[in-house]
Parts: sequence; C-alpha cells; structure tokens
Amino acid sequence: MSFSQRVFCGQVTPEDIGRNVQLCGWVDAYRDHGGLLFIHLRDRSGIMQIVFSPEIASADLCRKAASLRTEYCIAVVGDVKKRMAGTENPNIETGNIEVMVTQLTVLSESDALPFAVSDKAMVAGASTAGADNVAEDLRLQYRYLDIRRPQVRDNLMARHRIFQCVREFLNSRGFVEIETPVLTASTPEGARDYLVPSRVHPQNFYALPQSPQLFKQLLMFGGMERYFQMARCFRDEDLRPNRQPEFTQLDIEASFVDEEFLYELIEELTVKMFAVGGIELSRPFPRMTYGEAMDTTGSDRPDLRFGLKFVDVTDVFSKTNYSIFRQILQRGGCIKGINIKGQSEKLSKNVLQNEYAKEIVPSFGARGMTWMRAEGGKLESNIVQFFNSEELETLWKKFDVTDGDVLIMIADSSYSVVTSVLGQLRLHLANRLGLIDENCFYPVWITEFPLFEPKEEGGVTSSHHPFTAPDRVDFDPKNIEELLSLRSRAYDLVMNGEELGGGSIRINNRDVQRKIFAALGLNEEEMREKFGFFLRAFDFGAPPHGGLALGMDRTVSMILRTPSIRDVIAFPKNRSASCPLTGAPSAVKREQLAELGLLNLGGQDVLPGTAEKENKVDHLSWVSRIGIAAQERPVIEEILAEAEELALIAFQKAGKEEPLFTVVPVSNRTRPGTEEKRSELAQKGQLLKSAPSVKGNYFKVASILE
Ligand code: AMO
Repeated sequence: MSFSQRVFCGQVTPEDIGRNVQLCGWVDAYRDHGGLLFIHLRDRSGIMQIVFSPEIASADLCRKAASLRTEYCIAVVGDVKKRMAGTENPNIETGNIEVMVTQLTVLSESDALPFAVSDKAMVAGASTAGADNVAEDLRLQYRYLDIRRPQVRDNLMARHRIFQCVREFLNSRGFVEIETPVLTASTPEGARDYLVPSRVHPQNFYALPQSPQLFKQLLMFGGMERYFQMARCFRDEDLRPNRQPEFTQLDIEASFVDEEFLYELIEELTVKMFAVGGIELSRPFPRMTYGEAMDTTGSDRPDLRFGLKFVDVTDVFSKTNYSIFRQILQRGGCIKGINIKGQSEKLSKNVLQNEYAKEIVPSFGARGMTWMRAEGGKLESNIVQFFNSEELETLWKKFDVTDGDVLIMIADSSYSVVTSVLGQLRLHLANRLGLIDENCFYPVWITEFPLFEPKEEGGVTSSHHPFTAPDRVDFDPKNIEELLSLRSRAYDLVMNGEELGGGSIRINNRDVQRKIFAALGLNEEEMREKFGFFLRAFDFGAPPHGGLALGMDRTVSMILRTPSIRDVIAFPKNRSASCPLTGAPSAVKREQLAELGLLNLGGQDVLPGTAEKENKVDHLSWVSRIGIAAQERPVIEEILAEAEELALIAFQKAGKEEPLFTVVPVSNRTRPGTEEKRSELAQKGQLLKSAPSVKGNYFKVASILE
C-alpha cells in the first residue's frame, strides 16, 4: 500500500472541504448509529472524524468498518466534508469537518486495551474515561500505549520543541554540540557509579558518567572554546520524584569567560525555554548568597514564591529570664522565627500547640517551638508570661506584627537544626495555608557556596565537585577549619524551590587542582591513579573556563507543570529504579557472567559478594557485620558446628524435619508442613502499624540489617 498521499488528521482544515485525502492512524473511539458508523481517527497531530455511510460506502466496506475496534491501526481514503449544523464537536480541533470514507485498509488489529487511551469525547458535553487513574506501573509497562495518549504525546512533543529551542539558541551563540563517552572512568559527582564490566579486560569495569564534567573540561583544554551536549547521565542514588537513575543534562562549558557571561547566557536561554511553554520570566534573575538563603529560608534551593522569611531574634533574648531560651543561648545557640501574616484564624491555639508544637515540629527534628498570636495589639501564647514587656515589644517591631499575625520561633543550640526545622515548617505552612501561587515562576541564582563540607568521619568533601574554583588559593590543604571557611565560585539556578542547574568557574591551574585533591585527602599515588590523565592536561596551557549543567527533565517538567519528571521522559524508570516495560534490571545467565570473568573472582566459582556466604563463618560475619579475625575462626567454627548438631538433635527428638539454619543462604521458604498464610495486618494494609519509624511504604531498621 502506498502512503504517498497521506495527510495528517490534525492538519486537515475547512479549506480542504471537497478534497480527497488519505488518512492513517488509530481508531480512537467509535459510535455506531445503526448502519452509519462514526470513528475518531487519531494520529500524532490530532483527531479527525471519519464516517462510513451506506450512501457513499459499499456494503462490503461498511461490513469491514463494523469490525473495527479501538486502537486498530488503519488507513482510509475519503472526501473532506463540512459537518451538518448542530453536529460539530468542540472537543477536537477538526470538529467542524469530517471525512466520508470510500476506502479502508486495516493495517494492524489491536487486543483489548489494559487501559483507555482515548480522552476525547465524540460528542459535545460527553465525558471520557482517560487513563489518569491507572496505576503508574501499568502505564509504564505499556508505555507505548501510554505514549499514544494525547497528554503524554504532548509532553514529548513539547520536550522536543524545548530541546530544539536550546540547540538553536546555543548554536547562534557559537556553541558546538559534541558527544562525550558513555563507557568511561568514574566522574565524582557525589552519587554511586553504575558499573559496566569489560569482557576484553576481565574483572575491569567502565563507569557510566555521572556527568561529562571531566570531558567537557578536556574539550576546553582541547581549544573547542564553547561546547554543549544533551548529555545522558547516570547516578545510582536514592530516588525522589525529581530524580531518575538515568537523566538528561544540558551540559555547557565555555573558555575565557567569567560568572557574568554564564549568568547572562543561561538567563537568556531559560527565558526562551519557558517561553516555549507560554511562561514569561523577567530578567535579570535575582541573586542570593548561600549564606543569605540558609539564614532566611533554611534551604540552598529556596522557594521564593511566598514570604515567610526567617527573622533572627537571638538578640532580643540575650538577657531573657525564660530558662529554655537562656540555656540554649548559653550553649551558643540561636533563635529564629517567621511571621505568618493574618493567619490567626486558621492557626488556632489548639492547632499551634497540639499539631505543630507536639507533632509536626518534633517530626522535623526540633525539640519544640514557641508560638505567639497577635490579638488586640498584644502577643498571646501559653508562655507569654515568661517574657518581659521590652522583649515582647521588640519582637512586635522585628516581626512587623499586626493583629491577626502568628509568630513561630525555633530555638536550638545548633544553627543547622534551627534553619532546617524552620525551613521545613515554612514549606509546610505555605502549602497548608495555600500561600503558593502555582502560576508564579521565581528563578534565583544561589552563589558563594562553601567550597567544602565536613565529612562525618572527619576531613572534608567537595560541596559541588573537586574541579570548582575556590574564592582564594592561598589556603593550607591540611587546615580543616580554613578549608571549611573557603567559598566556591559555584552557582545554582533555583526555581520554585527546585534546583534546575548548577555549575562553576573551574580551576585551570595544576597546583591549585592538586591542592584541592590534597585537601580531599588524596595522596600523590591516589591522585595519579584517579586523575593522573586529567592533571597532566593542565601542563599544556589550560585556558580559564567555566560552565553549568541544567537538568533538562526537571526543567521541562517545570515548564509543563507535570507532577513528576517521569511524565516528560519517554521511557522512565519507576519509583524503585526499574523498568516495568523491559523488566530491567534483570538477572543474567551464568555463562554471561563467566564470559565477563565475574564467576572466577578469588579463584572461586561464585558471584562477587556471595563468596562470603559460601563459608558459614564468613556468612555469619556478613550477616552480623562483625569482623572475625583469623585466630577467632577455629573457635567460631567449633561453636557453629556444635550449634548445628544441638539444633539437629533437638529437632530430631521433637520428631521434626531438619532445621533451617540462618547461617546458610535462605530464600523465601516455609517450614515443610506449614501453610503459607498472608498476615491479617497485611490484608488490612497495616503491616507497618507497629514499626517504630515509617517513611512512605518503608520502615526504618537498624542499619546493620540492611
Ligand atoms: P549537578 O550534579 O548539580 O552538576 O547536576 C546538574 C543538574 O542535573 C540535574 N540532576 C538530576 N536530574 C534528574 N535526576 C537526577 N538523579 C539528577 N541529578 C542531577 C539537576 C542538577 O541541577 N557536572 C556538574 C555541572 C557543572 O559543574 O557544570 C553537575 O553535574 O537539575
């Protein structure tokens, strides 16, 4: 069959009335009016009503048409006609016209669908089922059907338009699109690597890039000057709605530039991208230092669509008699608060005391909170009697209070507890009180980040990555206090509380780069082993350079206002990082592992990580996470053997089958003779009822149990 005359459903207009056209697509919906059959034919561009009428079509054709079902893939030929007055359909863009079919070819039939694809009613005013309430995993399992749904299709089309806009803009500014390797060595971005074993080099691994960071810098060393890439990045980290194990960055790098060049470039680009989605952003984007963001919002990605900024009131209570505040301040603590303007009706004493002070604030990590309500020109609360009039008056002024306002204050000896709790409270209150304007888009640059963060086990780690330029280079890499005082030349682009992108001016001096590695605790040998090739590149005239990466999934999702970034990715992973469509990740054959040299680690024919389980002492050590020294092994072996023997005797005496030892690998089995039974609690959905701490569908266990 020839498709050369094919036109798109959505592109046929009233101007085509009288024209003979060929249309191809899927049966979206049908309506049989006793011999007269109406079908919504859908292709990527839209929907056209096609009509099989016994007055025009042969009896054979009408019979064939009557066998059509939803999602059959068909081609038709017919004449475009104006619809009869009163039968127009405002639900579809081509609702004033229809095509009277004279030829039909069924290209491919369809099984009954797992969920409805169609979302356009055939007549004005009727409603449709749609697939919005279908479980996401089912939609992802049949993603190709999900993509036929106009909503998902439109998201992918809009993503394409945004990507095109990026390419056009960057091309016009002299940026060159270059691909960097996917099979590569590890790039430090703070997550775990996905590793790919090499068959040619047994027991050696490539790492999938967490970002093309090193390569884009090497492109600058290579003199490419302005680079960009729609780069696939891979990070094995805990999933959140705005994170995917595999995601796309718009990766940018330029030589002979400073921060201002990048701010200007990215702002112009961001304005253009948001304009594709009909969102107008004004420039210049405001800037805020990391310190100010933490001080006033408790977050380095502040949502500035609403107020509720923190006010520091530590000074107000420097001589207070209120013992809780006094003790906290004596321990070097601080007190910050927010004024929730005009909300005292919604935040009653009961809500503040019993919900916020007793439940919500402790769950955010603080011991308690102090609240006050402004009524009749005075502050009122359960503890207001502990403050003197000067303190209350100063609070009134500092918080700019008027009647109807509610103050919430958090005091703690730790600055980070105060800012983190108040930050969570700020977002909680804004959501609860409906203070967020969903049509507002508030970009902000966050600057002057600390270069390093302290590590729990001592030493420091990079806040961004180790290639970020410090604000000064005369530091001592061994002086932790000094390292923690350094600022970086990094910047994040934040919008509505979401980090859309981040970047920095890079180090282009070998000695400074080495100093940073040294500060991170790498010795000469480790530097050579991990980054020798990179450091060597500094020896041949490394230009000053800087760049940024924008998370494109997040950006597109924000422009299209989708609840999750999964909605703008053609084939995303689900919440547990797997793909319900392909079943990835999946087990592989032992032969494949053998071919990759993964069955011979340590000279034993076992998989990595399972070697320990083969030996009972090793397995005991493995499950208990307690190291067993060589000299302790004979004793433990003896104890284990005795324990097994005793258990066996006990079971044989009791006339039971052989016991199940916990020190051998166990799969999901039940003792012979026992009936498998689902717990009653599970049936009621209360399985986690008694768990000490529950998060979503999980409960927390002691870390050694993993
Ligand atoms: P960074 O690690 O900040 O910087 O990443 C840049 C942006 O990528 C997006 N992003 C993600 N999106 C979806 N899922 C994820 N798991 C995920 N992780 C990150 C975010 C983030 O802001 N090499 C540096 C950039 C540079 O310095 O030029 C980098 O990768 O939107």
